[in-house]
Amino acid sequence: MADAAELLDSGEQLDQHALRTLQLERLRASLRHAYANVPFYRRTFDSAGIHPDDCRALSDLALFPFTTKVDLRDNYPYGMFAVPEDRVRRIHASSGTTGHPIVVGYTENDLSMWADVVARSIRAAGGRPGDKVHVAYGYGLFTGGLGAHYGAERLGCTVIPASGGMTARQVQIIQDFKPEIIMVTPSYMLTLLDEFERQGVDPRGTSLRVGIFGAEPWTEQMRREIEERFAIDAVDIYGLSEVIGPGVSQECVETKDGLHIWEDHFFPEVVDPITGEVLPEGEKGELVFTSLTKEAMPVIRYRTRDLTRLLPGTARPAFRRMEKVTGRSDDMVIVRGVNLFPTQIEEIVLRTPGVAPHFQLQLTREGRLDALTVRAEARADATPETRDAAARAITTAVKDGIGVSVAVEIVEPETLERSVGKIRRIVDLRTP
Ligand code: DLL
Repeated sequence: MADAAELLDSGEQLDQHALRTLQLERLRASLRHAYANVPFYRRTFDSAGIHPDDCRALSDLALFPFTTKVDLRDNYPYGMFAVPEDRVRRIHASSGTTGHPIVVGYTENDLSMWADVVARSIRAAGGRPGDKVHVAYGYGLFTGGLGAHYGAERLGCTVIPASGGMTARQVQIIQDFKPEIIMVTPSYMLTLLDEFERQGVDPRGTSLRVGIFGAEPWTEQMRREIEERFAIDAVDIYGLSEVIGPGVSQECVETKDGLHIWEDHFFPEVVDPITGEVLPEGEKGELVFTSLTKEAMPVIRYRTRDLTRLLPGTARPAFRRMEKVTGRSDDMVIVRGVNLFPTQIEEIVLRTPGVAPHFQLQLTREGRLDALTVRAEARADATPETRDAAARAITTAVKDGIGVSVAVEIVEPETLERSVGKIRRIVDLRTP
């Protein structure tokens, strides 16, 4: 076995001082690039009375204005591009929650950097050259499939480009092609689990060793469920189209303690979501990213709406970690004045006996108040008594743990909508 240092790429081997020096140099270049080539940034910097030359230390980044999803939408499709269109080698897009697409572009260098950070991520997850990687993230405008694909190739793996869907066939492919690694959303991994069981195949007996799960929030309970049911290591990968796609940060398999941010390319800040003030390390707030090396579409202080905190590095000491993202500010529901994230319900449902790891949150309006129904699926072997007990246990846990009264409905096995990619947890039946 090669020793660890030999496996790390040159960026990963930087010490913290060298990393900070590199970041400042790259940050100044990225600010200059955005200002010189994107009218949007020129306008917002000018109206904030700030110029790229004013950035003399990393902390000066806080002087620059934020960029939001609305800004990207307003500049649809190519208004945020900083290079001539003929230098753009690929386009991806995300449909977003409100249906307005956001378009992102990559130059050849951007695609190469992306492959590098995904390769680094797969290796941190425990993947090695020669491993076979089953990619079940969707291929297409979504960044998951192609992002994972080129990263796995860059690492020297064999890619099985399964994409999402055709679940029965995925199970067959896993059995026949014998991948060591799977990259997929955690919710689709559960759909695959159902299919293994339907086909009478033992999910613990496959060739899979590691699952690299992301694109949606998932909890420690979900990690345990997946690890146990498949007998694999389950690690978290994070990213967003606006910043690059998957591979912005990655959990290391040896520590499973949050995600190391590949800070030589993506500079993180955590800010107070209301005031925008930069928060100190360890405090929870909204994650903000500035790209340090992107050419086609630099992003300056992009507000992700994802909630997390920054922590010092562990398995990769120079790189800060972000705590597992438990939710986006967009996914928060407010029920009778109490803020609630779907992941909080996930934790409860997954530790409740008698119910399967499938649930949905239904929002309705009763008079002038919003009401929430947790719909969880009974396990196939659950008796009427265990179902009643499960309903009571969930109701009590939500009331005690989150502080709000919800209705709980235990539905028949195999009745809730299954994921083929990112799962939709909230069904909003309130009339506008
Ligand atoms: O989901 C990129 C990706 C693909 C990441 C595959 C990981 C794996 P978007 O479609 O632009 O890009 O969605 C980005 O998804 O802002 C988060 O809210 C959420 N998200 C992504 N990864 C995680 C994760 C891809 N590991 C949005 N944990 C982000 C929690 C995640 N949320």
